[in-house]
Amino acid sequence: MSGRLSGRIAIVTGAGSRGPGLGNGKAAAILFAREGARVLCVDQVKERAEESAGLIRAEGGEAMAHAADVTRAAECAAMVRTAVEQWGGLDILHNNVGIESRKDLLDTSEEEWDRVIGVDLKSMFLATQAAVPAMVHRGGGAVVCVSSIAALRGYGRTAYATAKAGVIGFVRSVAVQLGPKGIRVNAIAPGPVWTPMVEDLGPDARARRRRASPLATEGTGWDVGWGAVYLASDEARWVTGQTLVIDAGLTLTTPEGSLGATR
Ligand SMILES: NC(=O)c1ccc[n+]([C@@H]2O[C@H](COP(=O)([O-])OP(=O)(O)OC[C@H]3O[C@@H](n4cnc5c(N)ncnc54)[C@H](O)[C@@H]3O)[C@@H](O)[C@H]2O)c1
Repeated sequence: MSGRLSGRIAIVTGAGSRGPGLGNGKAAAILFAREGARVLCVDQVKERAEESAGLIRAEGGEAMAHAADVTRAAECAAMVRTAVEQWGGLDILHNNVGIESRKDLLDTSEEEWDRVIGVDLKSMFLATQAAVPAMVHRGGGAVVCVSSIAALRGYGRTAYATAKAGVIGFVRSVAVQLGPKGIRVNAIAPGPVWTPMVEDLGPDARARRRRASPLATEGTGWDVGWGAVYLASDEARWVTGQTLVIDAGLTLTTPEGSLGATR
């Protein structure tokens, strides 16, 4: 298959979706395959990984499903081993895994803090650490980590915002270390896209989210997935340590009404 990722071998973590519909990971996995990559769809729920891999194969792409909890080092190592043994190497790691916590400081339990930091931040460290030797062997590679605009704005949601800000710090730190090895490391900070992760929000919150950004349209997993394709491809060969904000311009805005109050 020809395409922007032709001949590349990719891992997408959290490649399934927690509910019916399209998550960011599922969309990225599908787009990677459409652009010519062979994709290892990794999810801790095997059926979710299988669903995404099946969708890719059904449209003529190449994909395998693999079950792993990416908060565990041994499972990250096994995930990379699978890609290398099956396809001969690894070029792209898309660290998409993430869970949300909507609790503020005083409501966040220690257990929830540890869980969110573990899934949203530690997983990026463990998966990247496992992937780097295989990428070095290939002479380079690309790592993309999914952050959030919650890292960039004062939203509350303390554990989530902290973990997602940590992702940006991780990317900058690691980009400097891995640049000389030909490995680029970047982040994507999505705005409020409509994925199964936020399905419980309800129609009012959904409409509010849509209206809040200058483009006033709803984002989907495809919008985030196209950003991942770009950062994983040679088109971004001179881009590393950056955070690509995909949010319909939401982070450009001031809180509703605040400008009026100063006039
Ligand atoms: N939806 C939004 O508005 C929004 C906004 C900003 C950022 N994001 C980020 O997008 C990313 C994921 O979005 P999605 O739509 O694909 O979510 P999703 O919940 O639909 O899918 C995530 C998948 O990750 C898997 N998973 C969870 N923990 C795992 C673990 N420890 N090991 C392996 N797999 C695990 C789940 O089983 C699930 O299938 C997250 O990092 C999220 O924080 C989403």
